[in-house]
Amino acid sequence: MHFDKLPINQKALTVNRELERAANGAIRAYDALKSKVGLRGRAAAYDDHAYEFVGGANETMRKKHYDKSLRLLWKAEAAAPWSSFKDATDGEKELMGMAERGMSADEKAARARISSAEFRALLDAEYTLAEKKAIVAILSAIGHGEAYAWLVSASTLTDVKSTGAKAAVTMQVVEEAKHFVVLRELIQAFGVDIPRQSAWEYLMLEGALKAKGLNKFFGMNVLVETIALNIFGLLSDKPGLEILRLFHLDESRHTALPDNYFKEFPMTAWEAKNPAARMSRLLMALPAVPLVFFLEAEAAEIGVDVFEFGGSIMRKAFTLADRAGFALPIPSKQLLAIFNSAFNAYCSLTREGHVWRDYASAETTRGAAEAAVEREIFGDPAHAA
Ligand SMILES: [Fe+2]
Ligand SMILES: [Fe+2]
Repeated sequence: MHFDKLPINQKALTVNRELERAANGAIRAYDALKSKVGLRGRAAAYDDHAYEFVGGANETMRKKHYDKSLRLLWKAEAAAPWSSFKDATDGEKELMGMAERGMSADEKAARARISSAEFRALLDAEYTLAEKKAIVAILSAIGHGEAYAWLVSASTLTDVKSTGAKAAVTMQVVEEAKHFVVLRELIQAFGVDIPRQSAWEYLMLEGALKAKGLNKFFGMNVLVETIALNIFGLLSDKPGLEILRLFHLDESRHTALPDNYFKEFPMTAWEAKNPAARMSRLLMALPAVPLVFFLEAEAAEIGVDVFEFGGSIMRKAFTLADRAGFALPIPSKQLLAIFNSAFNAYCSLTREGHVWRDYASAETTRGAAEAAVEREIFGDPAHAA
């Protein structure tokens, strides 16, 4: 490469450089001192010497989450052709066209790029009004949860150390944004009133957003994401709801984030086990219990015993909490037994001929592919409880 170099004044250059060096030294020393005495020094946990975020490269996290999320990134235009989204590339649209050309007339009709009106008609044909209301009540619980998942993951981005972990959480932010906007259109397509957050959802999600530091991983990635996994796993095999498979896959990656992060940056014993942190986690989790009772009628409408649903959420959430090292005020096995007894006590009072059963070993994930994904994460439910 040949550049026509311009003349410069060497003396002015030297003064300029020296001035910068002195200013840089003074600014850095001032900010370092402020940080040392507990005032806000440098705001970014960024190491410009190493050209890396504080915590280093952490390529393991980047490969496990950022790279994998990009490999599995799905577009709403392809997965929900009835939606308003236009996010597919020309190449993806061409592939969609090619796939359709290879289909039989019946397959084409099933897969056809149905319009919003046709999708609504499909839902009307498949479900009664009561079933639509029940599905919307259950789905909107996690629909509101997606709004919080978006906000919580965005704030976790500043809490995690290392370039790799920040890249990983960035993909969660992108995926939660997509979950919120796409799920919103799916729920609206049912054409029934969408309930606001119940008191229990409100308390749980506000608790996760207000949690300090990486306790947000417990509130969101362990607790709320496990509820999301269970809801998507329950509904993904139902007509018109097949897109929830893709949500389920994304959430399964999000539930693995805390454990993978703590492998690189373990919590201190104090962070994991101090009494205040244990109690704050239990308080975040407690609203999930009345939420289970609250959804009994809606679950029953689509043929699901809500206590089986709740028991399977709790078993999975406690498995993830133990794996990540999030201690609770009492061991998770005992907590599981307490909730199981509460469910059974309620059922023996309200259901005729109730026979005691172990709700903690129940499984309500119906999709075969989703069950396989969960077995990989949680093991076999029959042996887990
Ligand atoms: Fe999500
Ligand atoms: Fe998520």
